[in-house]
This record gives sequence, structure tokens and C-alpha cells, in this order.
Amino acid sequence: MNITEILPGIHYVGVNDRTTTRFEGLWSLPQGVSYNAYLVADEKVALIDTVEEGFGSRLTENIREAIGDRKIDYRVINHMEPDHSSSVRALRMLYPDIQIVGNAKTLQMLQGFYGIDTGTLEVKEGDSISLGSKTLSFYMAPMVHWPETMVTWCAEAGTLFSGDAFGTFGAIDGGITDSQIDPSRYWDEMRRYYACIVGKYGGPVQKALAKVRGLNPTTICSTHGPVWQREIPQVMDVYDRLSRYEGEPGVVIAYGSMYGNTEQMAERIARELAAEGVGPIFVHNMSYADESIVLRDVFRYDTLIVGGPTYNGGLYPPVARLLDLIAARCVPQRNFGWFGSFCWASAAVRCLGEFAQKMKWEAICEPVEMKQGFSPAWHEACHALAARIAGCMHR
Ligand code: FEO
Repeated sequence: MNITEILPGIHYVGVNDRTTTRFEGLWSLPQGVSYNAYLVADEKVALIDTVEEGFGSRLTENIREAIGDRKIDYRVINHMEPDHSSSVRALRMLYPDIQIVGNAKTLQMLQGFYGIDTGTLEVKEGDSISLGSKTLSFYMAPMVHWPETMVTWCAEAGTLFSGDAFGTFGAIDGGITDSQIDPSRYWDEMRRYYACIVGKYGGPVQKALAKVRGLNPTTICSTHGPVWQREIPQVMDVYDRLSRYEGEPGVVIAYGSMYGNTEQMAERIARELAAEGVGPIFVHNMSYADESIVLRDVFRYDTLIVGGPTYNGGLYPPVARLLDLIAARCVPQRNFGWFGSFCWASAAVRCLGEFAQKMKWEAICEPVEMKQGFSPAWHEACHALAARIAGCMHR
């Protein structure tokens, strides 16, 4: 059984990357990542997406295994980010007659990144090319994840080649479609991928979802992670909720602490929340936490409590970094509480309040500000903050 032919005439030719430690140089990859590419082999052959340049030889081996010495007529670029496009120059040396298909923005980037401006075919919204018994149609999906992003639709196979949309971190272990693997390990990695990579673009993702629903695909071939068939409703639901920034009930407490005093506030608030019957609760020490996991949880849950000490007349840097990551993703609303500390001059709590104002998040409780060391004298203030947060969550 050749499982790389995921549907008649449609071949998976992507690769796993289990060696890169940081995607985009930023985001951890504890379970690796896949760069997916697909061949549609009909009377003509189209290659949709490619892989990161360092894996180019594996891509060409996969292509040869699928179609032997047949030529490739079209190379469709759904997305120009180099994890999918950087094999294009080498591919062109192997297949000099290949026609590169992209929209106007794609072709401008193709020239800018790789100096390629010949042998291209520009397509617009709704344009199609015929491969014989199958056609490929192109629909724009700007900002999912770059402005040039588009998706490719093969109506005869009910298959959507969706670019980064519906992608996830995590290499694919053995199987390729979601019925050949255990999909449960991907849901958290999908949320983490979404929050880190596409999280800023909720509106564009919603527009793309509307287009995809209209097509009603039975197979979704993303650029990262398994090919989705059986799990399409769950995949659509995850992307829909995240792109609406709709948090599930749950609390993320993210804090920084130099000597453990602010940490004790975080622990106390978490304990008080649990006593109020709130959950789930996730506590992250920002000096040690993987920020991609914290971002994932911020996207997933509806309540965020942040605390930190004052440092150099401002907010403790690891906590400030988290706020920057959240602000860059324009998260529109969370139940937000905050706390902080100082030794001789207050600043952290003010900075956290300014963050809430900047985000236009409604203030639902008074912050707790501690001078110097933690003691039982602060229990009541932590209780009050937790009780107010719990009240909002139970509304
Ligand atoms: Fe997987 Fe936006 O590239």
C-alpha cells in the first residue's frame, strides 16, 4: 500500500524536520515540524508548495518516487515564506521548463527573494488551470499568513491545498492523513502554531474560513502537519475559535520573580482561584517558560493574570516581553488581573495597567501591589483579586 498517494493522482512529497530547534528563529519545535508539498499528477503534473531549502534533495527524491522521470508542468506557490519556497531555484534547475504559478504579489516576492522573473504564470481570484481530468483553481487568502497567500482548490478531488491555514507544529510520524496517525497529539501544537504564527491575523483567517466553508472540502492539505480528512470539523473549529479570539473558561497566570516574593503572590492567587472553584489554571514563570506555550494558553483561555516586579524603573523584562507578544497579536479582550511588587519605587503595576489600557481591555479588578517582601499580610489582597476574577468568570 502506497500511503503517500493520499488520493488517486495526489501524492504527498513533503518532509519532516526534526533538527531545526526554532521555527522562524523564534518558536520551539519539541516535536519537529513538517514542510508539506503535494503533486497532482494528471495529463499534466503540478507541484503545490515545496519545502525548506535544506530538505530540497529529499523533496526531489519524493517527487521521483511518485512520478519517476515525468516532467512537472506547474509549480504552484500558495505561500512565499521560505520554509515553503526556498527550494524553488534548485527545483528549476532540475525542471527547467516548469511554469511557476502565483498571484501578482507572489511573483513580485519571487523576484525579490530568488531573482526569478521568467517562466511564470500570474493568476487572480477564481482563475483555473486544467491538468486534464483535474483542475486547479486559485483563491486569495491574504494574511494567512503573508499578503500574497492563496489557496488552491481541486474540485474533482474535493481537495483544498490550504497553505499555512490549518497547519500545526509537529512532524508527522509515519502516517500522513489524520486516519493514519493519532490526531490528539496535534491539537495543542495547532493552537501553539496558530498563536505564534498566524495569531495577529484573526480577521483574515475568518474571511478565509468563510471561503473554505463555501468549498466544503473533504481533504485539506496544509503546509504543516497531517492531511486532514476525518478531523476537518475539529480543525475548522480550532481555527474558528482562535481566530475569533474566543477564550474557553480558564486562567493563565504569567509572572516573573527575582527572589520569590512576587512568585509567592502568583502561587497565592492561583490557590485562591482554585478555592473559588475556577479552573483550569496554568501558572507560568516567565523566566523559564517557553513563551510559545504561554501564548498558546493566552489564546486558548479567557482569563489572564500577569505579575512581576519592578526592574530598572519599569516592568521585569521577561514579563514585558510577554506583553509585547500579546500586544503584537491584537488579542481583543481577556478577563485581566495584575499584580506586582517594588522595593523603593513603584513601576511594575503601573506598567501592567498601561498595558491593559493600550489593549482596551476592561479593568475588572484592582491590582495588588506589594512593597518588598511577601508575608501573610498579603493573603487578603490576593484573595480579593482572585474572588473578583472568579466572579467575572462565573458570570
Ligand atoms: Fe509555513 Fe508562513 O510559512
